[in-house]
Amino acid sequence: MLLLLFKLYLLCSRLHTLTEATSQPAARMTFTLRETAMKRFPLLGHHAPAGVVLEKEPNTVISAEQKHLKSFNFQNPRKTPVEIHVPWTECNKSDPQQTLKADCSFNIYLVQKMEANKLFLCGTDEERTACCDMDLSQKPPRCMSSANIQNVKDSIQGFIIKEGEPAALVESAESNLYVTYSGSEGDVGIHRFGGNRVGPTMHDREQHYVGLVPSRRRDDPLQGKVFGFYKEKNKDPGLYSDMWIPFVTRVCMRDRGGPKNLLQFSWTSQMNARLFCGEPESRRHFSELVDVATVEKEQWEDTRVYALFRNEWGMSAVCVYTIKDIERIFTKSTFKGKVLQPGRSRECVPDSTTIPMDVLNKIKENSEMEDWVRPVDNSGPILFNHHNYTHIYVDDSQNNRSDKHTVLYLSLHKGDIHKVVQKETQTFVIAEYQPFHHRHHHVLTFLLHPPTMKLYLTSRTELVQLDVGNCAQYGDRCGDCVLSRDPYCGWNGSHCTPHTQDMLQDVSQADHNICVSSGMVEQSQTGSKYPPGRDEVTKSIKLPLNSKYFLQCPVSSHQARYTWIHLERNTSRSLEDSPGLLLIPRMSPEQEGRHRCVSEERGYTRVLADYTLQLESRAGVKTSTSLLLGLCVTAALIQSLSC
Ligand SMILES: *[C@@H]1O[C@H](CO)[C@@H](O)[C@H](O)[C@H]1NC(C)=O
Ligand SMILES: *[C@@H]1O[C@H](CO)[C@@H](O)[C@H](O)[C@H]1NC(C)=O
Ligand SMILES: *[C@@H]1O[C@H](CO)[C@@H](O)[C@H](O)[C@H]1NC(C)=O
Ligand SMILES: *[C@@H]1O[C@H](CO)[C@@H](O)[C@H](O)[C@H]1NC(C)=O
Ligand SMILES: *[C@@H]1O[C@H](CO)[C@@H](O)[C@H](O)[C@H]1NC(C)=O
Repeated sequence: MLLLLFKLYLLCSRLHTLTEATSQPAARMTFTLRETAMKRFPLLGHHAPAGVVLEKEPNTVISAEQKHLKSFNFQNPRKTPVEIHVPWTECNKSDPQQTLKADCSFNIYLVQKMEANKLFLCGTDEERTACCDMDLSQKPPRCMSSANIQNVKDSIQGFIIKEGEPAALVESAESNLYVTYSGSEGDVGIHRFGGNRVGPTMHDREQHYVGLVPSRRRDDPLQGKVFGFYKEKNKDPGLYSDMWIPFVTRVCMRDRGGPKNLLQFSWTSQMNARLFCGEPESRRHFSELVDVATVEKEQWEDTRVYALFRNEWGMSAVCVYTIKDIERIFTKSTFKGKVLQPGRSRECVPDSTTIPMDVLNKIKENSEMEDWVRPVDNSGPILFNHHNYTHIYVDDSQNNRSDKHTVLYLSLHKGDIHKVVQKETQTFVIAEYQPFHHRHHHVLTFLLHPPTMKLYLTSRTELVQLDVGNCAQYGDRCGDCVLSRDPYCGWNGSHCTPHTQDMLQDVSQADHNICVSSGMVEQSQTGSKYPPGRDEVTKSIKLPLNSKYFLQCPVSSHQARYTWIHLERNTSRSLEDSPGLLLIPRMSPEQEGRHRCVSEERGYTRVLADYTLQLESRAGVKTSTSLLLGLCVTAALIQSLSC
């Protein structure tokens, strides 16, 4: 029975290894609901939440739940979330200007945070769209109908926002809202609402938008632009061509469209360029754009866009582009077919309605650039592997420190999260979090609150708060802390804690020797070749002759090598694919003595488990003990069998 279970376990873990074999690099550590505290709320309605925003108070977030907002307080997860009714002006019964339907309500498809305690949201009832600039500090909250937003509200009414489309509200004396419309039918492209409504020209290409990045120019407001990122269905049906082509497009914020008879209310400043992500040497490239995340910088041209791609072979990659490089293509490249288009301005013009007819005709004809946009410094992907990622989120808040590092969060299509540290073109997968109860619902939104190091995640059914600054979970020694390479954490002399100045950490090299050289670690005091565990107690186990037994070792890092040491001898009996288990097939006098599980990673060794086996005297209570042991092991195995 025991052996059967063990074989089953091996088969199970082997299958697991096979399916994951190509998934290098795997995360160094895995944190499930068991290892790390994760607070959660169920989301009702099974409707993708349009967005999550942080409230003023820490630990409180607001999420859109179909027709209303809900405020979730993670400080007090037992408290029922507070429902916030949206007071749509369009549903005001005492306003004679509104033509009311019996059931006046809108499905919220867009939520954006404005200045402190104000939200901008839009919803649609399939016939029209309503927007509300809501002041949360008022009780009950009201739609403020501010003058600078009124034009957005008026001009968007007849447009139906689709679920999941990127949007950007650009606030000014006269605010504008940019929303995309994806698909193969209708006005596919970027739409602007506000004082001057402008939209895409008619075309028959299938496009799916994944991000909008506004780039305002304080030094030169006329040159303010909005960049859109999308994938386009390839019309070339060739056998070896890709299904999708990734693009970046840009429009000028001051564009008002053409004059009455040509390109009226359509973009005159739009240009498109292909994005390249791949390695020319290995001829490996990625063509399906999946998601983008932006890191804004003080200087507009330094702003970076992290783009997540997939290819048809089930691989994912991340490439990084700067706005500067994108702008260079739009200002310097010829148009597709090496066409020059003299007279067409690459800059934004003050009045687009005065562009000459011949130029407008060229704009209408061809707006695609000949040259492609390549990643920053002509690099390849900063990360690629066989995981199927669906979303990307970037935390750049660590970049203020001397050892500049960026942390990426990538969600896997089964709902898990990879936390990745990046410096230039180097990346390392620090951890995999498994935050959802429903492992088949992937992450829809990410939001980090850097001061508290809490990451908020939503799936269709759950809102989870993940403590990504939980440094204690890496271990209780300096070496564990340094090997984690987590830029959020450092060794303060006694604990692995959230990183501040004067703490030990080496994100780039994971060199644990800094622990010894800094004197922040106790030297090994025994004469043994292997360092002692902190709780230097050996667990005594008595076994009957010829009995079977398993010794267990707590496996933490997937990148460490685990060995069982018996009487200071390195035994080769540890199993390749289940390093945590040591099988004692038949208890005999040779098995007596100390068995220790030692992990080794980048030259750092430590004892993780320490047992002393003894033969039980034949007169002992043989059957009952071995039965009990068998039961314990069975329980442990069943637990680990859930692979
Ligand atoms: C509803 O409309 C009336 C009349 O225009 C106005 O006085 C009132 O403030 C509105 N209520 C809300 C919640 O906007
Ligand atoms: C990757 O995930 C997406 C979204 O969940 C899914 O549609 C696609 O089939 C997955 N691809 C593979 C190769 O598993
Ligand atoms: C980093 O610097 C930016 C601006 O210089 C600031 O807004 C941000 O709060 C800083 N982040 C941290 C973690 O200190
Ligand atoms: C190190 O961090 C731990 C836990 O955060 C704290 O209790 C301890 O006082 C800190 N030690 C020093 C020397 O700052
Ligand atoms: C034990 O031996 C194996 C195989 O020779 C080796 O890879 C491993 O590093 C050794 N472990 C220790 C802790 O010495």
